[in-house]
Amino acid sequence: MALQAPTPIPLLTPYKMGNFNLCHRVVLAPLTRMRSYGNVPQPNAILYYSQRTSKGGLLISEATGVSDTAQGYPNTPGIWTKEQVEAWKPIVDAVHAKGGVFFCQLWHVGRVSNQDFQPNGQAPISSTDKPLTVEGFHGAHSTPPRRLRTDEIPQIVNDFRIAARNAIEAGFDGVEIHGAHGYLIDQFMKDEVNDRTDQYGGSLENRCRFALEIVKAITNEIGADKVGIRLSPFADFMESRDSNPKALGLYMAESLNKYEILYCHMVEPRMKNAFEKSESPHSLLPMRKAFRGTFLVAGGYEREDGNNAIAKNHGDLVVYGRLFISNPDLPKRFELNAPLNKYNRDTFYISDPIVGYTDYPFLEDTS
Ligand SMILES: Cc1cc2nc3c(=O)[nH]c(=O)nc-3n(C[C@H](O)[C@H](O)[C@H](O)COP(=O)(O)O)c2cc1C
Repeated sequence: MALQAPTPIPLLTPYKMGNFNLCHRVVLAPLTRMRSYGNVPQPNAILYYSQRTSKGGLLISEATGVSDTAQGYPNTPGIWTKEQVEAWKPIVDAVHAKGGVFFCQLWHVGRVSNQDFQPNGQAPISSTDKPLTVEGFHGAHSTPPRRLRTDEIPQIVNDFRIAARNAIEAGFDGVEIHGAHGYLIDQFMKDEVNDRTDQYGGSLENRCRFALEIVKAITNEIGADKVGIRLSPFADFMESRDSNPKALGLYMAESLNKYEILYCHMVEPRMKNAFEKSESPHSLLPMRKAFRGTFLVAGGYEREDGNNAIAKNHGDLVVYGRLFISNPDLPKRFELNAPLNKYNRDTFYISDPIVGYTDYPFLEDTS
């Protein structure tokens, strides 16, 4: 008699996301690692991403700048130059060689920058000219932003469109628009940042216009079946808050249906900032129900609540950040219910090409 395979845990069940046949539901979160010297992805990323690839697994790249005004942190990659596109190719190839599906997260930090990161030392751009009152990242001071003129906005939308085209040229399977965590797109959406009086400010519809124009432009460029977006309506990271996050999340979920994009990736309300869990009375369920494509949930997930999220149909895929940094073989460990390596925050953002990056042990190494 043939032995019957044990029933897989919900996280390890297959899922068909549009044209992609995923073998499990454990997704690599977009994770900035600041090891792309001079904004060019480095060979060290080949090993890093390939370590975190499993057959039929979905990976989302670290946030990747769409233009020379998009950056606000040292050594983060871009995808607006030919050199950057070429540098991504071997990284994407390595993920594909192991059967992974790889999306590129497209990013513009807006006012979370300072003039040192900007061409000709100019002011960072934003929806507003209100500066951040908190320090930018790792103590870097932010300098006051310049409010984009209405007539300049199509150019920024176009930068996203070209970056998406470049991502496909680099071999990525699709792109994720970074509409979360207080960066440029979020700076337009959230009413405590956006103080515009033109058609990009005021009503919910107006504040979401910029995000949806980007969705439309990218969808027209590369096809809706290759487009996802990340949103964090409930977060207030980088002083980007909304007075009615549920209405914002729902409006976006419903509007995205018109473009028939592949997925919507939302950060759980319990993640007040991008990193720390706290209790929240809110849930993503209304957005999950409203959105007709694949729904990804992220933020503070472990094995058990990830399984529950799938079992209860609160999401189709569960996105893991910090646990995936320290456990390159995370899906395997979940499958076996094996112990997890602890992550070390101190090495999240250092520029070392190995330490805290590609030196976390696999199960085989520890057993
Ligand atoms: C080191 C680090 C870098 C991050 N970089 C990004 C990023 O580039 N883009 C993004 O959308 N979120 C980023 N995040 C947020 C994560 O994608 C994720 O939402 C967050 O870590 C919460 O999930 P977790 O509890 O599974 O870690 C980052 C988080 C960490 C810890």
